[in-house]
Amino acid sequence: MTIRAVVRGVGHYLPERVVPNSEFEQRIDTTDEWIRARTGIEQRHFAAEGETTSDLGARAAAAALADAGMEPDALDALILATSTADLTFPSAATMIQSKIGMKSGFAFDVQAVCAGFVFALANANALITSGQARRVLVVGAETFSRILDFEDRTTCVLFGDGAGAVVLEAGDGTGTPADRGILATDLNSDGSYRDLLYVDGGVSTTGTAGHLRMQGNQVFRHAVEKLAATAHAALGKVGLSGEDVDWIVPHQANLRIIAATASRMQVPMDRVVVTVQDHGNTSAASIPLALSVGKARGQIKTGDLIVTEAIGGGLSWGSVVLRW
Ligand code: UT7
Repeated sequence: MTIRAVVRGVGHYLPERVVPNSEFEQRIDTTDEWIRARTGIEQRHFAAEGETTSDLGARAAAAALADAGMEPDALDALILATSTADLTFPSAATMIQSKIGMKSGFAFDVQAVCAGFVFALANANALITSGQARRVLVVGAETFSRILDFEDRTTCVLFGDGAGAVVLEAGDGTGTPADRGILATDLNSDGSYRDLLYVDGGVSTTGTAGHLRMQGNQVFRHAVEKLAATAHAALGKVGLSGEDVDWIVPHQANLRIIAATASRMQVPMDRVVVTVQDHGNTSAASIPLALSVGKARGQIKTGDLIVTEAIGGGLSWGSVVLRW
């Protein structure tokens, strides 16, 4: 018997305020046409004043628990992927724990920027398959609007706020790729690429939160090369290939990156869940948001083979293969 981390529920939350591309046309030297053509983004959501990452995460977590039909105290652990925690400490995960009324288990944050949810899923899988936890809530939540430089047209049009969550539970498998649950993971980082994507502030440097800085075309180049490679690596660990994939659920940064990665994996675009047009890049929230929206649209169904892949600051990148 093989223990598998099986998805029991999924949910998401988006802040009320929708910001169309046209709002940026009024503030900076950009156009709706440029943003759509270069990124696929049409709009994004921004959190209200006073609305924090843990607020968004708690709403998504509650939705995922309701979808799973599970009470908060049934959970053994809560992992939050975020780079925009409410405070320097305590972890925003513990704040979500308190907001959803979870008194059991333990909670912590994972910080791998846009790859954060993939890293958090892999950690949750390790906790479950090693027997340290049976039920783990994995949340991705971000308020990137708080770290954007709204004078910098090369970055401020790209990002949005939001949250998504999945409930994982230990299930019995046979050890084959036919099992439901997480089948394989592949994680990578290379800190020598720090300057391609970073925030120019922090606790032990400036003492401020800072602003996001990115050499977009350099990150683009790495994304196209590394995302297909990590997805192939994860699939290869369980003897699968692009042909076996029902849905790619990619990090939603840029439609051109999503399409190039799918093409390299030889998966047609009608088997890719795309939400970037509605959400922009929500960093660690983008994959659980896309999983939740993909299920709500009727795209993702029980038994489907899903590959998630993401890359972000670090650089850090990775992939998780799971059967829904
Ligand atoms: O989630 C973490 C991972 N991040 C990513 O995956 C982002 C990866 N990068 C990208 O998505 C793309 O590189 C961008 C969307 C950021 C930029 O697209 P690009 O096709 O790589 O454009 P570029 O950076 O090479 O810039 C092309 C031109 C430049 O003008 P010049 O130098 O050719 O005159 C930019 O100044 O586009 C200009 N530009 C803009 N023009 C209008 C940059 N931003 C804008 C803008 N509006 N907002």
